[in-house]
Amino acid sequence: MAAEKMGTTLSTFIIDEQRRLGDQASGLFTGLLNDIAIACKGISNLVNKGDLAGVLGTTGTENTMGDAQKKMDLIANDLFIDALENNGHCAGMASEELDNVLCLPEGKPRGPYLVTFDPLDGSSNMDINMDVGAIFSVLKAPEGVQCPTAEDFSRPGVEQVAAGYCLYGPSSMLVLTTGNGVNGFTLCSSIGEFILTHPNMEIPEDTSEFAINMSNQRFWEQPVKDYIADCIQGEEGPLGKRYNMRWVAAMVGEIHRILIRGGIFMYPIDERNREAGGKLRLLYEGNPMAMIVEAAGGAAYTGYERILEVKPNGDPHQRVPVIMGSKNEVEKAMDYHRNA
Ligand code: F6P
Repeated sequence: MAAEKMGTTLSTFIIDEQRRLGDQASGLFTGLLNDIAIACKGISNLVNKGDLAGVLGTTGTENTMGDAQKKMDLIANDLFIDALENNGHCAGMASEELDNVLCLPEGKPRGPYLVTFDPLDGSSNMDINMDVGAIFSVLKAPEGVQCPTAEDFSRPGVEQVAAGYCLYGPSSMLVLTTGNGVNGFTLCSSIGEFILTHPNMEIPEDTSEFAINMSNQRFWEQPVKDYIADCIQGEEGPLGKRYNMRWVAAMVGEIHRILIRGGIFMYPIDERNREAGGKLRLLYEGNPMAMIVEAAGGAAYTGYERILEVKPNGDPHQRVPVIMGSKNEVEKAMDYHRNA
């Protein structure tokens, strides 16, 4: 049995990255990412303890999107806010669990970044001891803004300066991009540090694995119905290969699998979510994951346009349809839309 791996810590990696970005002087970006890492460690600790820490179950409340809130949704949200609001690295936050964007309270030091996060993606997996995760995105605050408004967060995904997620699975992994490649760090619980274990993650261009909630089939648009029907036909169908299906029910788990071994993940527009614009959230899920997937060589579309170019409508809880993963497979699914 090999000894535990040691190597580059997340902090060392971020400092090197900051040097590369030519921002040696301020250290604010490094500080910000460290704040996020601290929130992720705190969440990992509680998720790991589960019922021993009394964090399972629901609160009886709903978030602004009408989702039943789990106890751990709110705890994770507080841990993110605690880690970010005291160190002068950001000017404000937007969270899937908050009704409105959060401008730091009077007297707290402010920094030049805005952070958006889904503090516990896939939280319905919490009580069944399956994958959950945090997803985050970093934007530059507009020049001179002290108290950011929803408008300040309403920027297309191409403007993100960093994005990442922390998957709380059998091990906790933080995966990060600042636009230049994607790197994965595994949390070593003995020393409490994320260690670089997955440098330069690249999504294989081809795949024969799809992830979609099949129970929604009757509500999908025709191009999605046709693409999935052709996948299911396997070798005998027009796509000429046998597909496998996976559904973790936590986007963070699906995207992690795709980064490791390829695949396509879809949460398309359908008859029930059409008015809302989709199911997943643009600022907390669509944009950060699209940035990661593209930086790892994959592709990310709504079915009609690049997710990173979707024009925000000013609502921080805006939803978006999602088709992302292995480049060639995503292009295939897009062809069904283009030719419809
Ligand atoms: O929006 C949260 C989310 O849990 C995603 O992480 C996941 O992909 C999806 O919803 C699961 O949805 P469903 O309830 O259709 O399985």
